[in-house]
Amino acid sequence: MGDGVTPTAASAPGKCILFGEHAVVYGQPAVAVAIEQRLTVAMTPAPSWSVDGSPLNSKKHPHIVMLKDALMDEDRPMAIHISGDIPNASGLGSSAALSAAVGAAMHHLSTQQQPLDKDRLSSLAHLAEAHAQGGRASPMDASTSVEGGVVILSNQREERGDWLYTRRLETPEGERTWEVHSLPAATEEVHLVLGNTGVHAPTSRQVAMVAKALAAQPHRMQEIEAIGTVARRGIDALIRGDYEAVGHAMSENHLLLRNLGVSSPELENLIQAAAPTSLGVKLTGAGGGGCMVALTRDPKTTGEAIELAGGRVLISRLGNPGVHLDSSG
Ligand code: MEV
Repeated sequence: MGDGVTPTAASAPGKCILFGEHAVVYGQPAVAVAIEQRLTVAMTPAPSWSVDGSPLNSKKHPHIVMLKDALMDEDRPMAIHISGDIPNASGLGSSAALSAAVGAAMHHLSTQQQPLDKDRLSSLAHLAEAHAQGGRASPMDASTSVEGGVVILSNQREERGDWLYTRRLETPEGERTWEVHSLPAATEEVHLVLGNTGVHAPTSRQVAMVAKALAAQPHRMQEIEAIGTVARRGIDALIRGDYEAVGHAMSENHLLLRNLGVSSPELENLIQAAAPTSLGVKLTGAGGGGCMVALTRDPKTTGEAIELAGGRVLISRLGNPGVHLDSSG
């Protein structure tokens, strides 16, 4: 970048799931919020494609290769530089944020100035996630990173929230459909404190583990449905701005996730540390490691408690902007 060429740069937020992870893969309602932490990509014309100095590789960079093939009609090689403050493989949606930011920059490069087609971009980002997760992925991460704010997914159109689009995916268990909505629920009244266990647990493994448990014991679908019931209660509380009830539903959701087998001793340790100063606490994302989230009116004290228990802390307000172009080359 020392030759004076302005890179084309775009950034996209990570996400935190307040309700419904895993159950959303089976069509139950779920809610995610865009967090303050973002991932930025900068692209500069170059003699060949590269990512942070290494040649672009479909095994190492499957999301980028898929988006390049879909969005760049002519091969104009770019040097891609990735930066940001979303930890990798921690349940905070770093791969969807990468797809959203790369997709926005490529869209700009190939169409020159045309407004971003968020519907198409989030659909491509969803397909990239599904590819990486063995065919089982909800559009949760992709839509939240592209749209920003608060996103509700459900198997039916909800009266609450603004309906955005329908997503369909052929999964190993049959076709799934999700209705995606956005919810105006930004607030400074409460904060999210994210505690990272530092343990990497691939989403694909966690999602496959749940699928295997449900195939072996079909009656456990009741647990998935119970998560959906709690998520509906949480959505109502969020719309009323009743954060005590939101927190209560989050903690209930965590107990159901724990029974499902997707928590871990490291997550339980951080959750226990944060609980006394929080309105609600749960794991967020696929679990097995990664992050927990606390909803709190006192982010400083809750963050200190998580840090004392050995977690790495990130703090975010609720409701942050989705993907956008930061500069155009
Ligand atoms: C991952 O962020 C959330 C899961 O529900 C998987 C998905 O929705 O694709 C575990």
